[in-house]
Parts: sequence; structure tokens; C-alpha cells
Amino acid sequence: MEKEIHRVKSIKGELRVPSDKSISHRSVIITSLADGVSTVKNFLKAGDTLTTVNVYRKLGVKIEDEGGIIKVHGVGLQGLSEPDDVLDMGNSGTTTRLTLGVLAGQNIYAVLTGDESLRKRPMKRVASPLRQMGASIDGRKNGELLPVCIRGGNLKGINFFNEKASAQVKSAILLAGLNAEGETTVKEPFKSRDHTEKMLSAMGAPLKIDNGEFYTVTVSKTEKLNPIDVEVPADPSSAAFFAAAAVIIPDSELVLKDVLINPTRDGFFRKLKEMGADIQYTNIREKAGEPVADIVVKYSPDLKSVRVVKEEIPSMVDEIPILAMVATQAEGETVITGASELRVKESDRIKAVVENLKNVGVQVEELEDGMVIKGKQKIKGGYVDSYKDHRIAMAFSILGLISQEGIKIKDADCAYISYPEFYEHLQSVVEK
Ligand code: S3P
Repeated sequence: MEKEIHRVKSIKGELRVPSDKSISHRSVIITSLADGVSTVKNFLKAGDTLTTVNVYRKLGVKIEDEGGIIKVHGVGLQGLSEPDDVLDMGNSGTTTRLTLGVLAGQNIYAVLTGDESLRKRPMKRVASPLRQMGASIDGRKNGELLPVCIRGGNLKGINFFNEKASAQVKSAILLAGLNAEGETTVKEPFKSRDHTEKMLSAMGAPLKIDNGEFYTVTVSKTEKLNPIDVEVPADPSSAAFFAAAAVIIPDSELVLKDVLINPTRDGFFRKLKEMGADIQYTNIREKAGEPVADIVVKYSPDLKSVRVVKEEIPSMVDEIPILAMVATQAEGETVITGASELRVKESDRIKAVVENLKNVGVQVEELEDGMVIKGKQKIKGGYVDSYKDHRIAMAFSILGLISQEGIKIKDADCAYISYPEFYEHLQSVVEK
């Protein structure tokens, strides 16, 4: 479905964007391994997280929706059943990689596949360490690409350096580590999102964390996980689109309610502040072990360009496309480097952002590991391709709001992967 987004006068109001995708995935995947029933309040009902629910049902977990609260009947650490067909992971890298970690510890055989985008995404980053732990894994290109098959069991702990600072890789190894003899250690050059560690600790797993020169997590073989009650806050990666809109559209003011501000996730908001944006965390509190705030964002006419470097990427990895949109309105040149991981997301996000920006009349230079965006530019408008990537569709929708002639987006409906209500929410805050 195509969508055309036109210039608006301002955006105003209050929004509670949908719940966090990362925590929602984990609230089903990890609680499936508990001894007993866990509950999840405010579970994100979007393409990717519904894929997770589907997959864990096929692995024998009873998952119920009782008046909007999800009940996960955990089957224990090694209690998943062998699925009788290929598991369809849809568009979801998180479901795939974390589930490979879980399956590595189960004495069953499973085959995983996904959509056209997911079948292009690299899996050896999890297949290699999981093989080292003892799982047997095969797939196209020697296990690099889906479909992948896995037979788990008899794991032993490893010491792993998570060079890409990938939370999906870290999580896969820690989840396998629960069922591995001895200790399993993951060390990171830069700390990636820590929701898996937080949830595992809350469920009683023996976890040691060292915040020394490198962030290091160690898990030991575990007998059981206790069930928990999770309440999922609003997703900062979804809030980022509306925060960006409020910052670049004159006369705007928006309150984004209940947003997760975990420091491994809020790098985008910190970057906006560094650019000179008028943005404030209010009503800071804790919800189910995570810090949340209501974020007040106002139009900010004097934005300055910024640099983004490798160590900053993990805390804003999914927000680089929307940051690039904001950079088109800042004084000076914004230089983003160290972001080569963006090339292997739901689309090649460096290419998608650069080509589409050029299509709407913006001067931008592509780098191997990032981009250089010229600021204070007029957005003429035109046609962009989302490459069926939800974050590309939403980022260019926001840019459309300040375009002269409107921006038409190909396959805009892919926003449902993380944010099914995106276009309705947009409609509810714009003033024409
Ligand atoms: C995620 C980790 C990140 C992120 C993705 C969700 C997670 O991926 O891009 O959208 O929930 O663990 P990487 O682990 O590949 O950095």
C-alpha cells in the first residue's frame, strides 16, 4: 500500500506509543522457559511480536490473551516440544536469533525460515557460537542464511566476545547458557540493550555482571526460572518518530507518555538534546524494573549538526534513519560513522536512507559505515521506497510532514511490524 504524506502546520497533543518491541519479545520467549505462569501487561501486538507468540505456541507453550493481559504457561528450561512443521519467523530477526539460542538447549529438531528480508539476514553470528557450545546447526551458506535447521542438547559453556555489540547475539548465547554445563560468558566492547539480563535476574537465574572495562555477563547452568509479571513500557524506538516530528515542525509540542528510558536504549533522545532540541524527561519512575518517563518535546528551530560514532550506535541502532531526517534540518553537516550493522537490518538502512533522501531533494553522501547529511535543507518531496522496512517507512513519513510537495511512500503499511497504529496516531496529532 502506498501512502502520501503532506506538509502540516504543527503537531500537538499527547501520545502513548505502542509498547516496547524488545521487551515484548522477551516477555514471551523467556517466560516460556519458566516453571509456572507469567503475566504480561501492555504486550505489543504488532507483526513481529505476534510472530513470537505464534512460534512459541508451535513449540508447545500455552499462551492466552485474557482481557488484554497475556498469560504464558512456562514449560520449564527444557520443556519445549518438537514442532511438527517449519517455523515461520516472518520479518523478525529478534525472534529468530533468540529462539536459536533457546532451541540450542532443547533435545529437539526444528527448521526456521522467514520472509524475503529475513532470509537475507546473517545468522552465522549466532550459529557459530551456538555450534561451539554443542548445538548442531545447518542452513543455506553453511548456516549463514535461513532456512536453518537446529538440533540442540548437551551444551557446554563458552567465553564469547560480542564484537558487533549485538543484543540479539548476546541474548541467544545467554539463553543457551541456561542449559549449558559450567559457565557461559559474553563480553561486549560497548554495552548493548540489557533487557535479557534484567529479565533473567528477575526470574532468579544465576547471573553475574561486571561493568569493568568491558561489560561482561556470566550465566551458569540453571535448574529453573521463576515466573514473573511483566509490564511493558512504551517503545523509545517508536516514540523517536514523534519526538523528531515535534522537533522539526514549527509550533509543535508533544507529550510522549510512559516511554522506556533505559540508557542502553535512549541514545537518540540524548543525541537530540546534544543537537539543541527542547526535550525533557518528566515524571521519571520505574516500571517492572525499567526506568520510564513522560517525554515533553517542543519545536526546536536552532538545531546544530552532530557526529555519531561507533560506541554510540548500540543505544540508538534502530533510530539512525529518523536521526538522519532530523539532521536535514540542523545547521552544518551531520556525520554518522561506525554504523555498518545498519546494512544488515530489515533492509540496508544506509542505502535506503541515502537513496530516498536524494529522491526527495536532499544532499547526502553515503559512507561504507554511515553517511554525511547536509543540514538546513528544503525538502522538496517525491517518491520513496520503504524497501518493506518499517523504520524506513515511518522515518520518511515524518519527513513528509515538512516537505513542499509531499512524500509518497511505497509499501508504507509495513509499519505494522512494530507500530500498527502509526498512521492513525499521526493523524491524531497533526494540525493542518
Ligand atoms: C534487538 C537488538 C538490535 C535491534 C533490534 C532489536 C533486540 O539488533 O536492532 O531491532 O531486541 O535484541 P542487534 O542485536 O542486531 O543489534
